[in-house]
Amino acid sequence: MPILGIDYEQCKNSKICLLTCPRYFRLDKEKGKVVFEDPQNLCNSCGRCIAMCPTDAILYEDMGDAFTFEGVKDLSTLIPYDTMYKFMSGKRSIRGFKKKKVPRAIMEKVLNSMKYAPAGANIRTLECTIISDDVIIKKLSESVMDAIIASNNPRYSENLKKAKESGFDAIFYNAPHVLIIHSTNPNDSMNATIALTYGMLSAQSLGLGTCWIGLAHGVLISSEEIREEIAGIQGRVWGVIIIGYPTQKFFRVPPRPPIKTKGLDELE
Ligand SMILES: Cc1cc2nc3c(=O)[nH]c(=O)nc-3n(C[C@H](O)[C@H](O)[C@H](O)COP(=O)(O)O)c2cc1C
Repeated sequence: MPILGIDYEQCKNSKICLLTCPRYFRLDKEKGKVVFEDPQNLCNSCGRCIAMCPTDAILYEDMGDAFTFEGVKDLSTLIPYDTMYKFMSGKRSIRGFKKKKVPRAIMEKVLNSMKYAPAGANIRTLECTIISDDVIIKKLSESVMDAIIASNNPRYSENLKKAKESGFDAIFYNAPHVLIIHSTNPNDSMNATIALTYGMLSAQSLGLGTCWIGLAHGVLISSEEIREEIAGIQGRVWGVIIIGYPTQKFFRVPPRPPIKTKGLDELE
């Protein structure tokens, strides 16, 4: 039970915890104060009480550290929309990489941003495996190519056969790292996609390029042998990306069709 209760020395009775989470916070009229009660340990540690308490009066343990937005009064002013729009629309899939490994401290920054992605019921069961050994990446790439060639997939098999014959890594594009997100929680599919998307965007802010590799994802789902023996993963694979310093440069954002939307005309 990571939320432990309220530090009454800090509490100024704002009752914001009670308003944001009436399930576990209750006004004890006799004591004249809000109390935290979770006898069945059902609190999912979403931490909204920690985030919203104006006097930092929530007691917790084993959750990591909360932090404040020094000098930022309104988060919406941190990144103006135009900047965010350019940053997001300018993010391309990268399929060419420098022969340079990403330093651990930089990779940790990417992973650190992923942990702030929302997760259904705040259930945090995702795990990452980063493969950085070029020999294993090559072996994984070749196994994925072989599996797809053998499946006679009309879209990919023929091209992959030619790529393999010419020695081209048409799966991971000689990326220095393959990052696989996985877990044993059968409900993690969307959580993983969102977390990886956070990671890919933060990677871009660190000068890194990334690309989703659905081809490897499919094979890692279907082949237990490749998943366990080459990738070293037990459980379900939810997503695969490559990551590294890009050699590719983009001069403009390609056109994209609008998302078909109902209901927009109803807005003023
Ligand atoms: C779920 C998913 C799977 C993808 N799988 C692959 C893949 O296996 N290989 C690849 O080269 N690109 C893959 N991509 C990248 C797409 O081809 C790319 O996002 C799309 O062409 C648009 O280009 P952009 O990302 O540069 O805007 C994948 C993208 C997504 C979202």
